[in-house]
Amino acid sequence: MGWITVAKVEELKEPGSYKAVEIDEERIAVFNVEGRYYAIQDVCTHDGGILTGGEVHGKVITCPRHGAQFDLTTGAVLRMPAVEPIQTYPVRIQGDEVQVLLEAEAEAGAGAEGDEDEL
Ligand code: FES
Repeated sequence: MGWITVAKVEELKEPGSYKAVEIDEERIAVFNVEGRYYAIQDVCTHDGGILTGGEVHGKVITCPRHGAQFDLTTGAVLRMPAVEPIQTYPVRIQGDEVQVLLEAEAEAGAGAEGDEDEL
């Protein structure tokens, strides 16, 4: 899948701002954390809650459902009840666009589709 444009730099200019998008049924959110951009899968690993809309303080987001906290820069769990980290994605700026790398997802998809009776 490669690099996908998810926002214009202008939309995420303010530290603390974010944008959530859906790409191939995956919810992805990009955050401006103190002037740098980080992308996560916008799904809490505790019980599948949507993370965006939860409070963000610096690099910490709090799940609005039961209060689990995650580090937006690494995906690490900072507070229960979640125990699994959230997925993060590389982010780059191309011109005035914020792009997210979704390559690993594409590879996983291709592998899962493998069919043994090719010939
Ligand atoms: S769904 Fe996020 S803490 Fe429960």
